[in-house]
Amino acid sequence: MFPEDGVFRESGYILVPLDSYPSTDKPMSLPPLRASEHLHDVKYEIRGALARRADELEREGHDIVKLNIGNPGAFGFRMPATMRVAMVQNLPQADPYSHQKGIFQAREAVVMQQQDRGVMDVTADDVFMGNGVSEMIMLTMRALLNPGDEVLVPSPDYPLWTASVVIHGAKAVHYPCRPENGFVPDPKELRALITEKTRAIVVINPNNPTGAVYPAEVLKELARIAEEHRLVLCADEIYDEMLYDGAEYVPMATLVKHTLCLTFSGLSKIYRACGLRVGWVTFSGERAHARDYIDAVELLASLRLCSNVPGQFAVQTALGGHQSIFDLTRPGGRLYETRRAILESVATSRYLDVIAPRGSMYAFIRIKTDRVGGSNFDDRKFALQLLEQKHVLVAPGSSFNVPYKDHFRATLLPQPELMRDVLGRVESLLDELAS
Ligand SMILES: Cc1ncc(COP(=O)(O)O)c(C=O)c1O
Repeated sequence: MFPEDGVFRESGYILVPLDSYPSTDKPMSLPPLRASEHLHDVKYEIRGALARRADELEREGHDIVKLNIGNPGAFGFRMPATMRVAMVQNLPQADPYSHQKGIFQAREAVVMQQQDRGVMDVTADDVFMGNGVSEMIMLTMRALLNPGDEVLVPSPDYPLWTASVVIHGAKAVHYPCRPENGFVPDPKELRALITEKTRAIVVINPNNPTGAVYPAEVLKELARIAEEHRLVLCADEIYDEMLYDGAEYVPMATLVKHTLCLTFSGLSKIYRACGLRVGWVTFSGERAHARDYIDAVELLASLRLCSNVPGQFAVQTALGGHQSIFDLTRPGGRLYETRRAILESVATSRYLDVIAPRGSMYAFIRIKTDRVGGSNFDDRKFALQLLEQKHVLVAPGSSFNVPYKDHFRATLLPQPELMRDVLGRVESLLDELAS
């Protein structure tokens, strides 16, 4: 029961009335406090205005289905219990700061995983633990970039990559991963974008937001381009083992020998432990020429002292033994069945189209705009209508740095029945817009 005055007396929880939130309309008595100019072009719309509006609607008492964030725990997924045990057992040792690169056993576990995958020349010294991959992306870009430098970033991308380049005064040059090519990049197109200012190539595989898994030939070609131009190859492989229908993941580090390769991964997705904030980066390939850069990464890691220590104690257990992610991604598994619900709903939709995701936990769904509004169709406006009228929050496609406005991204996280219901709501909104 929602109390009229917003005070839940039994739980002691007080719901702050909407009108008591600080208003932006009140006259200002102090000069405006401006944000740093470094942030002018920095965007992360996945948690932006739409998400804030969703929070407001929730405060008004509405149930909102939030498909905007890849946060498995919010949909009932749990990390393997053995990871929790490993953390609890080691809590007595988790009070002090760890080494700036992280605890040895976690880094060593990453090395062993790399060896299993055929990357033989890395040691625990080449692995840095961070507070999520997010922190390691920011830190490795900060150590690399000068204003005016260029980084080749996929379009669509996971927008932290573009943000992490722009925030350091460098330029994100987007190479297209076109829907008509199954969202797989064309190495020739990417090569044509290289200039003397290019410093790095970012590859997200398996991909967020599209679910594409790149073929070995394409990855080899990208590795060759990076080697030829002595570019740093940044491989974001946080969805490495989240694969469907026999898709094959090829680790970039197995292909890059003659330039520096950075491989990013972590506990957030495959191990469903976003809240632990554990991610890592491994340096492989040619390192001798990159000493200055890697030392700078270590300096930045030292400035922030260390990453979350209790979470690091879960890494060894996570990476060894039975990999429960495969129970979720095979037929009958929760992620597989929600993906199936999307594919079946889209197949019967009058307005939607999707390239079946082969990896990760997203579907990048296209709206056939010729049936609803034509060239005036705006994915942000559509997402707002979907939120206001149908109580579903999705991320508009243009949040992922694409030049088109006819896609939205949904996560594969809800139960299949809820996903079918959600896509029914999308269809009914599109019916209304079409009429
Ligand atoms: C491609 C990609 N990289 C990095 C991250 C950040 O992950 P973390 O939770 O380890 O910071 C995400 C999160 O959604 C992601 O999708």
